[in-house]
Amino acid sequence: MVDRVLIFDTTLRDGEQSPGASMNIEEKLRIARQLERLKVDVIEAGFPIASAGDFESVKEVAHLVRDCCIAGLARARLEDIDRAWEALSQAADPRIHTFIATSPIHRRHKLGMDQDQVLEAAVAAVRHAVRYTSNVEWSAEDAGRTELDFLSRIVQAVIRAGAKTVNIPDTVGYTLPEEFGARIHYLMEHVDNIHQATISVHCHNDLGLAVANSLAAVAHGARQVECTINGLGERAGNAALEEVVMALRTRHDHPPFQSLETRIDTTEIIRTSKLVSAVTGFPVQPNKAIVGANAFAHESGIHQDGVLKEVTTYEIMTPESVGLATNRMVLGKHSGRHAFKDRLREMGYELDDQQLDRAFHRFKGLADMKQEMFDEDIRALVDDEVIREDDYYRLERLHVASGTQDTPMAAVAIQAGGESLLEATGSGVGPVDAVFQAIHKLIPEAATTRLNLYQVHAVTGGMDAQAVVTVRLEQGGRLIQGQGADYDTMVASARAFINALNKLAHRKNLPHKGV
Ligand code: KIV
Ligand code: ZN
Repeated sequence: MVDRVLIFDTTLRDGEQSPGASMNIEEKLRIARQLERLKVDVIEAGFPIASAGDFESVKEVAHLVRDCCIAGLARARLEDIDRAWEALSQAADPRIHTFIATSPIHRRHKLGMDQDQVLEAAVAAVRHAVRYTSNVEWSAEDAGRTELDFLSRIVQAVIRAGAKTVNIPDTVGYTLPEEFGARIHYLMEHVDNIHQATISVHCHNDLGLAVANSLAAVAHGARQVECTINGLGERAGNAALEEVVMALRTRHDHPPFQSLETRIDTTEIIRTSKLVSAVTGFPVQPNKAIVGANAFAHESGIHQDGVLKEVTTYEIMTPESVGLATNRMVLGKHSGRHAFKDRLREMGYELDDQQLDRAFHRFKGLADMKQEMFDEDIRALVDDEVIREDDYYRLERLHVASGTQDTPMAAVAIQAGGESLLEATGSGVGPVDAVFQAIHKLIPEAATTRLNLYQVHAVTGGMDAQAVVTVRLEQGGRLIQGQGADYDTMVASARAFINALNKLAHRKNLPHKGV
């Protein structure tokens, strides 16, 4: 008998709580569509009462996605639950996810409530939610540090009140795998109605144990894992979806996992990882498991020799199984619009005519400069074009002069709202500084920010590789990321800076939010 482990993706909710990872509605919709392609079971689309932007994005995701359950988060408050339902009601399969903290430390210092008051609030929240839908999930925030007898008591009560999924989060990433597995085992043994609900886990990665803890929980009967793409999330992040899924698949021989499977189409993993990285501006570290650039690279001569003789000597999964196409040359400067469009379709992009025109124009420019064009080049270019589609400020022209004897100078022209062309020059200690100084003169939002991180990486090998630049800006304690790609690193830098400033301009009117 095969048992399903449900994959609950919270990239759009907990993932978005990573400092600097906030996304606008269009970006969330793009990710939601890709998560549907990846075949996650549940998409947690946001926290509707947190802000008007969150409400709208949950509503639009609920409207768009038909093949996944869509969850919206709500505290144990009636108004939160009402608002969540308002956002979710058009979903094909809506879920209200309500939570309250249960640990002594949270009860005392955060809620000022005792055990009975917390239990009463949790039961009232679930009872209210089941009036809207039978698909109700309840979470015990900081369950990892909650007394086991109280945890059992409250889990039993919320199941009796109608919760169909009960989530046991390790909110602060404190537990060890053996301990966390034992916690799930205890609940399985001591809660008499436990089999009337699916047990879920939600592990944070503060000690780097989120995936290990999630797997330990699955070994003891959890059948839903909450996770995020690239392990994004509050502080050190959540369990990485790609690691949980590939561990269950690759170690299918391991007794607790033998009869388990997920619904995930693993060949969509790399594409999803790249999209999330491009949208949030959070680069994936090269040695990151499953999705890092080096995850399938064999460097040492001994390893290369082994892989050439028999691939399983050093590879426990195939690159194809996660959707990693071997870098092959696909299109060149003589390729036409039609071939370009076909290739994009094969790569999973559906662009409208205008987007296609812009992407093709840039493709032609790149193909003139670059001898070999790989899938990775096309992906970087198209993602870059789509990312800045709704940007108010767009780079129109850039000229940079620098050298060993000269003060670096930059001349920048920016389109503002497609109406006026703004122009300025700047000088700096280096060419990037000169470009950013010029942009500072044109975009007022820049004055209130501080550059916190500047990073470049090459999309492929070769001297003519495209550069992807990531910048992180800080404004009053908030972090905003921006990304830009181009074969000219200065152009990519300008695009990244302008992209981050666009996000600031876009967010000016949205209230601050948080769980
Ligand atoms: O980490 C946590 O406890 C959460 C809950 C809201 C599920 O994110
Ligand atoms: Zn969390």
